[in-house]
Amino acid sequence: MGLCPFHSEKTPSFNVSPENGFFHCFGCGAGGDVITFIRRIENLDYIDAVKLLASRAGLEVPTDTASNGMGELRKRIYEANREAARFYHKMLYSYEGAKGLSYLRGRSLSEATIKHFGLGYSPPSRYALVDYLRSKGFKDSELVSANLAFMSRSGHAIDRFADRVMFPIIDVRGNVIAFGGRIMSDEKPKYLNTSDTPVFKKSSNLFALNFAKNVGEGMLILCEGYMDVIALHQAGFQNAVATLGTAITTEQAMIIKRYADEIAICYDADEAGQKATTRAIGILRPTGIKIRVVTVPSGKDPDEFIRSYGEQGTARFRKLLDVSGNDIRYQIEKLRKKHDTQIPEQRVTFLTECAKLLAKLDNSIELDVYAGELAEELAVTKNSIISQIEKYKKQSYRKARKEEMRNIMLTTSAAADRINPEKHRNLRAASAEEAIIALLINNPDLADTILSRIDPDKFITSFNRRIFTLLIDRINDSRPISLMDISGELSNEEIGSVASILNARPRENNPKQAANDYINILLDENDKMTPEKAVSASAEEIMEHMKKLKERKK
Ligand code: CTP
Ligand code: MN
Repeated sequence: MGLCPFHSEKTPSFNVSPENGFFHCFGCGAGGDVITFIRRIENLDYIDAVKLLASRAGLEVPTDTASNGMGELRKRIYEANREAARFYHKMLYSYEGAKGLSYLRGRSLSEATIKHFGLGYSPPSRYALVDYLRSKGFKDSELVSANLAFMSRSGHAIDRFADRVMFPIIDVRGNVIAFGGRIMSDEKPKYLNTSDTPVFKKSSNLFALNFAKNVGEGMLILCEGYMDVIALHQAGFQNAVATLGTAITTEQAMIIKRYADEIAICYDADEAGQKATTRAIGILRPTGIKIRVVTVPSGKDPDEFIRSYGEQGTARFRKLLDVSGNDIRYQIEKLRKKHDTQIPEQRVTFLTECAKLLAKLDNSIELDVYAGELAEELAVTKNSIISQIEKYKKQSYRKARKEEMRNIMLTTSAAADRINPEKHRNLRAASAEEAIIALLINNPDLADTILSRIDPDKFITSFNRRIFTLLIDRINDSRPISLMDISGELSNEEIGSVASILNARPRENNPKQAANDYINILLDENDKMTPEKAVSASAEEIMEHMKKLKERKK
């Protein structure tokens, strides 16, 4: 059991069963085998996940010429994106693109920076990129899938980006996965970004992480915008990254934690930026990363700040970093601004709110330090602050446990309902079916015993019937039936469901006896099936049931 890497939680609900080769999270419902795990955590398709695992195990992957539609399309999109980035970059130095180049220079970017980030320009003609990529052999449908073009009503492809400076977004493996395009006037939208495509999910990527990950300072700087990141890199802070036009997500927070022990949030100094800072702290805290908050003075964003100091930009920003406080100090300061601590009532509310805030700290030494500072400053005893904190801690612990339990119940039953909607109407039968499935997977040698007594027709819920049929078919073909082996034939959600079926049951001491018991229950449930009961079943099931009744009469 451990903390789930796919959602944030404080109490472990992520379960790995080495014996069966699968994982399952009771909190968010994620589940599957090692390939599913790698697919999700590395954001890879099936084939690439297999390749990664194979290379780690020192195995060779046979090159498969059989159809792999999605993998093939992804490959084409990467290629199209790379060609597009080259094209946009080249355009910057064309007659048409001169305005793009002067825009970037006007924003104080050096030639080296423009090259380093592969910045570019998309020409105003709506066919420039489409024509170019067609000449390179790309199909319109591929360009549309890459979101480099959209389909007009009359059915031909049109460039998505026109007359904008272009920022390629590159993943940690060096693939161009998307673009941001900035308009050079005050028109809206200021930035146009690639929508999610088969190779790009904006909620799980960070701009410039491809560079920042190599800096090795143990710290990343998190900004709001592309230009902030680029200005920081140019000023020597190559550990700056940005989210892609959205508020930071849990996925991005977990990626940040993988690459750094500390994050410096450096959002715009305006109100929106400060709100976003509080939200980001809330998302980042659960990952356990150390957080500091950089305050950029006088309403500026980091790019404007650095530029306004010219040559001194680097030194000035370094100073901002050095004086930046951690997230707790930042939040205490925010509270302090809201209260006049000279007035006793406000002093009480200020301290109470601080106690609530400090109750979120896990580290009791840290907690003691802040409580001590506040006590001294406001002439109260440290013990009174600490005992108030303890109260809030207990409260929030109880609340969090309750909330987490509720979520677990909700996701487990919601997923189960989706995958096996007939289960709640046929609880006893479905439980017996699941037990039989688990027994069979865990004890393939019981196949003969089980098959001699029961066939898939006796399975009442169609999901379990489908799984059982799949197992039988594989056994008849002498193919293995571990979860890992059958996962290729199931969706991720279905694998999760089978994983939780296996997870919910301890291994039986006497599996043969258990199998017979559960088969008896299932047969008993079959006998109980009456036409009235079948009314709530699907038309197909009713037909099947009628057929069975007829056969029985014969
Ligand atoms: N953004 C976006 N779409 C918009 C506006 C903003 O995707 N219409 C995203 C971009 O990633 C942008 C970030 O939000 O970089 C921050 O926006 P903003 O602060 O408005 O822009 P700046 O980064 O300051 O851009 P610039 O300096 O070029 O004005
Ligand atoms: Mn800006």
